Amino acid sequence: MQVIKQGSAIRSIVQALRCSGKSIGFVPTMGALHEGHLQLIRAAALQNDITICSVFVNPAQFNNPDDYKLYPRSLEQDIAALEAVGCHYLFAPTATDMYPEQTLLHFSFGVLEEVMEGAHRPGHFNGVAMVVSKLFHLVQPHKAYFGQKDLQQVAVVRQLVKALSFDLEVVCYPTIREESGLAMSSRNKRLDVQQREHAAQLHQALLLAQKQIGVKSVAAIKTDVQTYLAGVPELQLEYFEIADPATLQPVPDPAAAEVALCIAAHVGPVRLIDNMIVKPQQLA
Ligand code: PAF
Repeated sequence: MQVIKQGSAIRSIVQALRCSGKSIGFVPTMGALHEGHLQLIRAAALQNDITICSVFVNPAQFNNPDDYKLYPRSLEQDIAALEAVGCHYLFAPTATDMYPEQTLLHFSFGVLEEVMEGAHRPGHFNGVAMVVSKLFHLVQPHKAYFGQKDLQQVAVVRQLVKALSFDLEVVCYPTIREESGLAMSSRNKRLDVQQREHAAQLHQALLLAQKQIGVKSVAAIKTDVQTYLAGVPELQLEYFEIADPATLQPVPDPAAAEVALCIAAHVGPVRLIDNMIVKPQQLA
């Protein structure tokens, strides 16, 4: 695997590859790679001639300076993991290379960013859209791979791709979980053993909510989730929503169509998100 640091270098490599007819699969990440990322790399490697991964902890998408400072970074381990799953190129730029000057450009995603992550992390999706646009321009992939754990991010990226006519397909893969049910996340590395156990209760809360769809109202399900999680030490629920999986807007009747159960909470010092998609036929 070749490690490329400069945007101009990855652009030249990609242009040559595209000219020789190669298809390019791209997995953008912020590093501290786990099995969730590696399944995306494996899928990209199976479905394309060339696989490119980026590792860049994007300052523009952090609304909390401590979260940025403490975000796990492990480039040497990431390189070893990427080599083991057959990634061809790692693009690992510096912040100065990605942002040589401050930009005033601003993205707006309308109602999509007025809920959940958009509402609780002002400016987050602007930062995501900025870096993802830059990465798509530099890497020019045919397919770009994202994880379902960041469901709202996937919806934002799909809207971005459509609005800016990026000539690529967005592919989304399901969340990979620890044995305890905890959704894999780079931020889990900041949890101690006990906090990891507490964090696994987020998945239990989603399972509890799933069982109640078609039985209870949205308000009653929300109360049950709040009550359940109130008993978990070190866990502070930020939101639990039942939403349309594509638009992320709240749904009045969760039993009528496919819905996304979305949750965010602080566990100790770390903010985590998770979600589960429930199809009407999955209901008892
Ligand atoms: O999901 C992530 O890791 C990041 O938000 C992304 C897509 C790499 C943009 O920085």
